[in-house]
Amino acid sequence: MSVALLEKIQTLKKQRNAVILAHNYQPGQIQDMADFTGDSLGLSVQAAQTDAEVIVFCGVLFMAETAAILSPEKTVLLPEKNAGCPMADMINAQQLRELKAQHPDALVVCYVNSTAEVKALSDYCCTSGNALELVQMLPQDREIIFVPDKNLGGFIVEQTGREMVLWPGYCPTHTWILPEHIAVARKEHPDAQVLAHPECNSDVRAIADGLLSTGQMLKYAKTSGVNEFIIATEKGIIHSLQKQNPDKRFYPATGKAICSNMKKISLEKVLWALEDMQYRVTVPEPICTDAKRSLDRMLEVIPK
Ligand code: 13P
Ligand code: SF4
Repeated sequence: MSVALLEKIQTLKKQRNAVILAHNYQPGQIQDMADFTGDSLGLSVQAAQTDAEVIVFCGVLFMAETAAILSPEKTVLLPEKNAGCPMADMINAQQLRELKAQHPDALVVCYVNSTAEVKALSDYCCTSGNALELVQMLPQDREIIFVPDKNLGGFIVEQTGREMVLWPGYCPTHTWILPEHIAVARKEHPDAQVLAHPECNSDVRAIADGLLSTGQMLKYAKTSGVNEFIIATEKGIIHSLQKQNPDKRFYPATGKAICSNMKKISLEKVLWALEDMQYRVTVPEPICTDAKRSLDRMLEVIPK
């Protein structure tokens, strides 16, 4: 890794009064260089609270949009303009309007992995870190539409026993993780616990020992008495897990679980972002105000 490159980033960051946020799936060197790493919930909290004038978001578009909605007065930069989330694009505003028309009395909960327009049409937003708590708070007599992730939605249905109308979206990266991969990994590491993300398919969720957001996985690995873990989520998180727990062992359920969009960001692109103040992410009105309402409700639910 180029020390000169890192120094240039640090110098420009100070000059621009910028903060660098990175998701747990980012390449290791981006996680190491960032001011804050975290899951979608943790990063949203950081984006809402920071005093910096500029937020460089090392993640994907919906995360930068979320930061721009929560802090409209700040400049939010996404270092790679084509870093999107295929799941977020699996439902658009028109499709959600049509679904709402079919269920006119339903409350709409959207996963934060969604476009700003979809957030604007939703009553509540959630992340994998607070989805369960948030749905449990909703009035029992109301129907719930959950978009776009059928897997996170299915996880909530399994945990709460509460039926919801699920949109058939999914994360391509997590669907590459199969029960066969878990079986092979368990044979190789019989003492390991399997931690899976709720974005995994139901057959993987059913055989996992724990279903956790990336932030919850990091917390659990640190405090648990267990020393070995099979990790069923995007591989990038292994970097932080291993760094924070040098005496424990972490094995990816499969080496295939890589989100190509998360890996589009590099140190060079972070430097160019700060040099040229690109690529600026903004959310137009009235979408921004409407989406902020559902995000503010999400930020009221921070699990202990
Ligand atoms: P969390 O880090 O919030 O668990 O989200 C996972 C994810 O897929 C982000 O794109
Ligand atoms: Fe989207 Fe999945 Fe990549 Fe997360 S890991 S950004 S949900 S494609």
